[in-house]
Parts: sequence; C-alpha cells; structure tokens
Amino acid sequence: MAKPKRRIGVLTGGGDCPGLNAVIRAVVRTAENDYGAEVIGFADGFEGLIENRYRALDNKDVSGLLSQGGTILGTSNVCDPFRFPVLQGDDYVFLDRSSQGLINFEKLGLDSLICIGGDGTMAASAGMAERGLRVVGVPKTIDNDLVGTDVTFGFDSALIAATDAVDRIHTTAQSHHRVMLVEVMGRYAGWLALGAGLAGGGDIVLLPEFPYDVDSICEQVRIRNGQGKNFSIVVVGEGAKPMGGQMVVSRKVKNSPDAIRLGGVSRQIASQLEAILNIECRVTILGHLLRGGSPSAFDRILATRLGVEAVHLTMRGDYGRMVALQKNELTSVPIQDVAGKLRLVTPDHPWVKTALSVGVSLGVPSSISLAQYLSEVVQ
Ligand code: F6P
Repeated sequence: MAKPKRRIGVLTGGGDCPGLNAVIRAVVRTAENDYGAEVIGFADGFEGLIENRYRALDNKDVSGLLSQGGTILGTSNVCDPFRFPVLQGDDYVFLDRSSQGLINFEKLGLDSLICIGGDGTMAASAGMAERGLRVVGVPKTIDNDLVGTDVTFGFDSALIAATDAVDRIHTTAQSHHRVMLVEVMGRYAGWLALGAGLAGGGDIVLLPEFPYDVDSICEQVRIRNGQGKNFSIVVVGEGAKPMGGQMVVSRKVKNSPDAIRLGGVSRQIASQLEAILNIECRVTILGHLLRGGSPSAFDRILATRLGVEAVHLTMRGDYGRMVALQKNELTSVPIQDVAGKLRLVTPDHPWVKTALSVGVSLGVPSSISLAQYLSEVVQ
C-alpha cells in the first residue's frame, strides 16, 4: 500500500515584512519537489490554527510570489494562543486557546508546523512546542532583533527604504538649512536607525538602547553649524527615549497581548531643539512604509534559504528549532533559546564603533565614553 503523503502546515505571524511570501514559496516548492509532501497554509497566524482556517498550497499557488511584499496567508500581531483575545461586552478577555490549536493540528494530520515570525511568534511557538506541537521556526522582522540568528529577512529591504528616505531628506535639508528628523520603526532595537544613519550619512542617530541627552544633540548641531554645515539630519529610532524618560506610546491596541505601539518621539525632540537652537526643525515619520514593498535581492535569497532549510528540518524530524543564519551559514537553534529575548545594539558593536569614528553623534555626551555614560550616567 502507498505510504500516505506527509503534510506540513505553515503560518506567518506578527508584523508583516518583505520576504514572507518568498519563504512560503520555498516551503511549498521544497516540500513538493524534494519530498512529495503537501502543504497547508493557516490564515492570519495562530488565529488560523485556533479557528481552523486554512487552505492547501501547491506549486501553482506560489507562482510569482518571490518578489511580492506582504504575506498571501495574512498575519496577526494580536494573536497569542496562550492569551487569545476574545471580545466580551466592550472589552477583551484573554483566554488560553493553545489546546484548540493542538487539536486542530492533530486532526489535520500534520507532521509539523512551520511558524514564520518575530519574537512574539517564536515565544508562542516555543510555548506550543512545550505542549507537544511539532514546530519549526523561521525568523523574520524588519527590527532585526531576534537572538540566535545574525540577521532576519525583512531587515535589508526596510534598511534600503529607510536609507533612500534619508537620502531624499538630505537634499531638502541642505536647501532649507533645517534640522530634519527622520523616525524609523524598530521598537526596542535600534538596528534600522543605526543602519540608516550609517548608510544615509545621518549626523545624529538616536537609538532605544542609548537614552539621549538633548544638550548633546544641540552640541552636535552647533558644531556642524560652526563648520559651515547649516543643516543636520537626525535619524531617530521610534523607541528612543530621553535620559531618565520614557518611550513615546502612540496608541494602545486593546486586543494585543503586547498592547503598546510606538511613534512620535521625533516630534517631541524637534520642538525641544527648535526652542533651544532657534533653528527650524521638521519631522518625517516613516512608519509602515518600511514594512511594505518588494523584498531586496538579499532578503529574497535569505528567505528562500531559510524556507528550504525549514522543510529539511521538518522532514528529518528536527522539531522545536528555529532555522538561522550564523556567519553566512545556515544552522538552527532551539526555539526555547530564542523565546522572550531580544538582540539589541550594544556599545561595542562594530556598527556603533564605525558610527563614532566617522563623527556620528549618538545623542550622548562626547566628554565620556558611551560605555561610561550608560553605566554611570543613565539610570
Ligand atoms: O516588530 C515590527 C514592527 O514593525 C515594529 O518595528 C513596530 O514597532 C511594530 O511592528 C508596529 O506594529 P503595528 O503594525 O501593529 O503598528
């Protein structure tokens, strides 16, 4: 009797980013071409697993997907199986629906579930793995803040968009002799801000990891003016906060387990700078623009490699792991080691050292080292 076909599930969770479709395509093609296996895709992340919303995917369905941004499966960043939001009256209550997810998974006869996502999705996947779900993780996020991998797909595409924006802001800043603030996403990690600052020639770069000091920002603008450079570009990570202060929350999403959404800190900084320096300051918040559009060549290749590897892992029965890129080699790490952690910018990172060497201000006093500032001045 012919052996039953093996079956893999796939879902995309968390905020979308360029490259998700490239992974889905790679998963479907590798499953079908190398193993004759079937793939089913769940709609809207873990929501689809719990509500049993899915569709079969074959080679035809993934044709032309490589260059498409977003995700054909849909995604959700408000759905944690362990804190599943359910509307009761006017408010949400959070229920543990993980058992329903496990029941649906087993009923569908799945070998494993490939979960493509960021920190929230990996944490949920690790929890589901503990409850017995055979899961393989694939890391994505424009924030580039997942531990266990050197880089996540989505980051390069977002960085290209952010750099292009900084380039465009540069010319108009020069023409009008203004201080221009460009705010980029990146929640708790400043990789996008630092990368766009380095690649776009930002003069001041403010990261969530290094609380800024407004006087130090002003000092850098004055130094530039003294050198005859009568404009400045400030690249601001959305999670940047003043020394002793808090991040700027733009909204709270009621049904989200991590309710806080950031945005707008650059407006606060701009009005402070204008008041102190008496120079016109303008703000551009890039927001979701960085999450959209077609993936870069780098992200297409990385997403494809990770998708292929995720299927190989699944077929070997190597569950409970996240595929990763380390030193340009594909590898995998236990998903439990990734859950609940973030890879943040550190003062000794080569990008930080490079920025300081080329005269970028990180919005901190220049009289002491960054490490000293962080350990002795910042509370
Ligand atoms: O984690 C990815 C990310 O784009 C962050 O950079 C940002 O803070 C957040 O998602 C925005 O989420 P939402 O799409 O819910 O506004």
